[in-house]
Amino acid sequence: MTVSAVIAGLGAWLPPGVVTNNDLCSRLDTSEEWIESRTGIVERRAVSGGMATLDLAVEAGGRALKAAGVSGVDAVVVATTSPDRICPAGAPEVASRLGLGPIAAYDLTSACSGFVYGLATCAGLISAGIAKSVLFIGSEAFSTFIDPANRTTAPIFGDGAGAVVLRCGSPEEPGAIGPFDLGSDGAQADLLAINGGGSRQRSATGLGHGEVPTEDWYLSMAGRAIYQQAIARMTESSLAVLDRAGWSVTEVDRFVGHQANIRILNSVAQRLGIAPERALINIDRVGNALSASIPLVLAGAAAGGELRPGDRVLITAFGAGLSWGSTVLVWPDISIDSPL
Ligand code: UT7
Repeated sequence: MTVSAVIAGLGAWLPPGVVTNNDLCSRLDTSEEWIESRTGIVERRAVSGGMATLDLAVEAGGRALKAAGVSGVDAVVVATTSPDRICPAGAPEVASRLGLGPIAAYDLTSACSGFVYGLATCAGLISAGIAKSVLFIGSEAFSTFIDPANRTTAPIFGDGAGAVVLRCGSPEEPGAIGPFDLGSDGAQADLLAINGGGSRQRSATGLGHGEVPTEDWYLSMAGRAIYQQAIARMTESSLAVLDRAGWSVTEVDRFVGHQANIRILNSVAQRLGIAPERALINIDRVGNALSASIPLVLAGAAAGGELRPGDRVLITAFGAGLSWGSTVLVWPDISIDSPL
């Protein structure tokens, strides 16, 4: 019998600290009008005072477990590109803090496509019979990796976390995830990168730990090139997954693109032939929350009634790597715990 991973509960969480465009204008050579018109972002959240990615993950994960009505799962997977520490992975700590016992737990790193890659990985655990249920969390405190003095990157990224409980079920039931389309292009890895702190820098330069140049400490981003790649890859990948699912574009009720830039989302929707009102958007309040972006937008829309049981949902994401991925599902009738 074929089995699928089915969404059983969804929870999300945002740190309380709000950073408005006006706040950014007080320290950067920019304007509220530029940021909102070029990105669609009005405010974003940021951690402070020692709060970090795993704190957000525990909040979102606990809410997803409660929404699913379960107190245990077989595995925890955390997608993040802003880990608390390079070593160890954060998922074991999340499992421990949520009282889930000595279960399988690991992280995966796929930047803004982390939620789609993670869904695929967790679906694999379930369909291979390795786990019957998985808590999967996308969590980011990426603001800590952004140069506060860089006017191109500082407005874009926001912190947050979103989590789903996945259970073993039938491919025919609402909430069953898949098929997937996944892809990458490592030849363009340098377009979006944090160069400091890893083994390449440690082995090549002989720099001491106090000598990492500022530009290597923070994200570097070729914004225009990433913008163009994001539109092309999310469009191609969406078409590929729709073809695999046997869905036509007109059958898509809700388009859920990674929330990187409202202009990117509008372009992808337009190229796909999806009306703007079918797109789910939270970038104005959340910014680009990397692997947390998609569960946050799903949670907000489901809690607010924009996303309803039975809706056919197309999900697509693109990010550093370069990497991209898409999947589809029919939205299930589940409990949601959303901060928006
Ligand atoms: O998920 C993957 C993560 N990253 C992304 O998805 C980012 C994708 N890229 C983007 O969203 C856009 O490229 C940005 C929002 C980063 C930039 O928007 P843009 O329309 O591509 O602007 P641009 O880079 O072509 O720059 C246009 C102008 C430049 O000035 P000049 O050279 O024309 O005089 C920039 O220096 O805008 C300037 N600029 C700004 N001006 C005011 C760049 N950032 C700012 C700013 N405020 N914050």
